[in-house]
Amino acid sequence: MSQRTPSDPRCVAVVGATGAVGEVVLRLLAERSFPVGELRALASERSAGTTVSFAGRDVEVQEAKPEAFDGVDFAFFAATGSLSKGLAPEVARRGGVAIDKSSTWRLNDEVPLVVPEINPDDLDKHKGIVSCPNCTTIGFVMALEPIRRVAGVRSVVVTTLQAVSGSGKPGLEELARQKAEVGRGDAPVPDFYPTPIVDNVLPLCETFRDDGYSTEEVKLLHETRKILADDVDVSMTCVRVPVPVGHSATMLIETERPLTPEAARAALAAFPGVAVVDDPAHNGFPTARDVEGRDEVLVGRIRKDLGSDRLWIWQVSDNLRKGAATNAIQIAEEMVRRGLK
Ligand SMILES: NC(=O)c1ccc[n+]([C@@H]2O[C@H](COP(=O)([O-])OP(=O)(O)OC[C@H]3O[C@@H](n4cnc5c(N)ncnc54)[C@H](OP(=O)(O)O)[C@@H]3O)[C@@H](O)[C@H]2O)c1
Repeated sequence: MSQRTPSDPRCVAVVGATGAVGEVVLRLLAERSFPVGELRALASERSAGTTVSFAGRDVEVQEAKPEAFDGVDFAFFAATGSLSKGLAPEVARRGGVAIDKSSTWRLNDEVPLVVPEINPDDLDKHKGIVSCPNCTTIGFVMALEPIRRVAGVRSVVVTTLQAVSGSGKPGLEELARQKAEVGRGDAPVPDFYPTPIVDNVLPLCETFRDDGYSTEEVKLLHETRKILADDVDVSMTCVRVPVPVGHSATMLIETERPLTPEAARAALAAFPGVAVVDDPAHNGFPTARDVEGRDEVLVGRIRKDLGSDRLWIWQVSDNLRKGAATNAIQIAEEMVRRGLK
């Protein structure tokens, strides 16, 4: 059989098509003109028979079962970890590629963990499953890698400020409901998060482990090391903030070789997928509101630490786009470009 060209249509499945990330995957597949021949929208039994919108038409949602992947080239998984664990191998077994947004496969040695601007060559080693990093990790490594390439990185201290959509639709719904409660003069009632998120800041993303770290924090460390193939030290605190979309982070970076803020700014500006917004004289800095709906990671507040040779930077990214859907689709685009599918 002759090899397909990049523009030949592919059969694409979106698992979790009714969720926060799945909806953006559907929108971006059309927006980026990914060569979708057939589109299968999959979710749980609860949503089977409802419709989602793709490229201006309604597509009926089917239950995600192994048979739904017959003939599929790419399956984007944006559902639950346990679903990816069971069904991603079913995609691979049928000759397709599963691109997974859950944490299930990220640290598996057989599975590439890819940010296409950073480690696209890892895709060549795929065995039918490719993993997408956590939404926080993607913005973090996109801001770190340009600096690492010019000066090496020894360590980073990072505090993240993460939007509620990072927890999917339940996070968005909880913030909206609590805003309405406060607006009526009622006390906000916590349900999904352990304490009110409205008008508040929670030093917890996901759940605490026995060692006092959250599961999100530990992902940031291990995923960064795998993507960069570098044992960089990462000290981290992940914080949930009452912002709908857009994860922010402040990073204090110790480089291996001296690097001025000007040189860091130039390296960041030259890196694909990163844009510098750094004009303190005119209050120019990037915010979550600025990045919502954009694919670039925005970086600003680049300055030397007053007490050391380390550099401070501030970084924001749209967790539903570059932190999830955009990165997943870029992986598929890169695989098509490389003739891997
Ligand atoms: N939100 C982010 O910023 C972000 C970023 C990176 C990675 N992720 C990861 O992406 C995945 C999806 O997150 P999300 O934020 O989009 O969550 P979400 O809004 O809660 O959506 C979850 C989706 O999964 C589907 N689902 C749940 N259980 C299922 C089952 N048993 N079988 C089939 N489908 C099932 C849901 O379908 P129903 O409507 O039928 O329930 C829904 O479509 C998660 O693994 C998350 O960790 C999220």
